[in-house]
Amino acid sequence: MRVLVGGGTGFIGTALTQLLKAKGHKVTLVSRQPGPGRITWNELTRSGLPLCDVVINLAGENILNPLRRWNQAFQKEVLNSRLDTTHLLAKAITKATHPPQAWILVTGVAYYQPSLTEEYDEDSPGGDFDFFSNLVTKWEAAARLPGESTRQVVVRSGVVLGRGGGAIGHMLLPFRLGLGGPIGSGHQFFPWIHIGDLAGILTHALEADHVQGVLNGVAPASTTTNAEFAQALGAALGRPAFIPVPSTVVQAVFGRERATMLLEGQKVVPRRTLATGYQYSFPELGAALKDVVA
Ligand SMILES: NC(=O)c1ccc[n+]([C@@H]2O[C@H](COP(=O)([O-])OP(=O)(O)OC[C@H]3O[C@@H](n4cnc5c(N)ncnc54)[C@H](OP(=O)(O)O)[C@@H]3O)[C@@H](O)[C@H]2O)c1
Repeated sequence: MRVLVGGGTGFIGTALTQLLKAKGHKVTLVSRQPGPGRITWNELTRSGLPLCDVVINLAGENILNPLRRWNQAFQKEVLNSRLDTTHLLAKAITKATHPPQAWILVTGVAYYQPSLTEEYDEDSPGGDFDFFSNLVTKWEAAARLPGESTRQVVVRSGVVLGRGGGAIGHMLLPFRLGLGGPIGSGHQFFPWIHIGDLAGILTHALEADHVQGVLNGVAPASTTTNAEFAQALGAALGRPAFIPVPSTVVQAVFGRERATMLLEGQKVVPRRTLATGYQYSFPELGAALKDVVA
């Protein structure tokens, strides 16, 4: 199939492109920068949707960039980079003479309210209690198409574990030095997914005609706490992981509101993802981490 991927130049997009190409699909990226195998967002606006079978959007300003202060200007970039690109693609799909078969958006489990007791599946309520949950609601609304001619899928992803990027990219050095440990109390849930499985779920969603609606992009065993995650990462590296990162430090680096992404968490299960027939390559945390740090 011909697959158009917005923001496909990043961490998830690189893994997805590799998998799609390995499976014989043709990939074109939409980027802010021109380059081979890409079109720009401006070209998309000017010329409309190129002929394709599936559209996926991964574009978005990196929320957990520790070098950016959590002020209004940055919040606007975080929001607009997601809403504008999603709107542009949805509009281009609506206007296309030959609309694609499927339209897939990756959002996040921040949709569900952090809790130490609740368990969330794809039908659980959420999306209306803080900046990030509201962001997910607006983001998913921006993707909605009026008609039924294109299959619509939203993958709400947990923290993506992969080599050379994502949240784990920042954690590896302290953990390798034996200076790693739980964040804050460590009791908060840490919903995770191996990058190979997120790429796998997206590929499954684009190939399987029966997949529609929301899928949680988390591992089936992702009901892990942050402390258990820190232990498992220490074990995968053969290092102790007992030094906790105090909440006050996380709040000082990220700002109070953004720090909740790390200090609080949700217990999320991929009920619909499993029901659609997706088979995980890395269902268990130990094996997922061994692969990532190898
Ligand atoms: N990584 C995770 O753990 C995780 C978890 C849950 C959800 N997600 C979501 O999944 C999507 C992809 O994540 P990722 O980790 O692959 O992200 P990433 O590597 O940080 O970036 C994805 C791409 O977004 C584009 N982009 C960045 N800032 C932009 C801006 N201001 N305006 C327009 N485009 C911009 C960039 O493409 P160009 O430079 O080519 O334009 C970049 O390569 C994001 O929407 C993210 O929120 C990620």
